[in-house]
Amino acid sequence: MKVLMVCLGNICRSPMAQGILEAKVEKYHLDWSIDSAGTSGWHDGEHPDQRAIQTCLKNGINIRDQISRKIRPIDFSAFDLILVMDQSNYDNVIKLTSHPKERAKVQLILDYNKNTQRREVPDPYFDNSFDVVYELLDEAIEEVIAAHRKVESVT
Ligand code: 4NP
Repeated sequence: MKVLMVCLGNICRSPMAQGILEAKVEKYHLDWSIDSAGTSGWHDGEHPDQRAIQTCLKNGINIRDQISRKIRPIDFSAFDLILVMDQSNYDNVIKLTSHPKERAKVQLILDYNKNTQRREVPDPYFDNSFDVVYELLDEAIEEVIAAHRKVESVT
């Protein structure tokens, strides 16, 4: 399974999502590859926001070596699943697709989180809600693995 996490800047939410999924993939010994990207390209070449790094570190996850990049057309063929953080990411990513097969790969990550009514991961860059974001992502990502692990084992 190849999973791409996407947010706006690729310095807060999607790097955290990438780090959390990488940690779980290692824990469950899965042969998955994970990456993340932003829709904006505003922070191309930068490491994650210090607050995202510290929040992950508190939870035993190192994301400080990640480097921000913009999503590109080839990602739609290179990845099986493209998980976005909010509706605006969704709209921006869908605009880049050219085929229904590509669109079918794009999902809101909180659709996997059964413990919340929220559909969007708030943007912690502005409101500092890094712990809330971590929790929402951690719960969702556990379900991402549960859902797609099953699919992999029967194919
Ligand atoms: P992210 O957060 O999309 O979770 O990486 C943001 C990072 C930077 C900006 C906005 C959101 N910005 O406006 O630069």
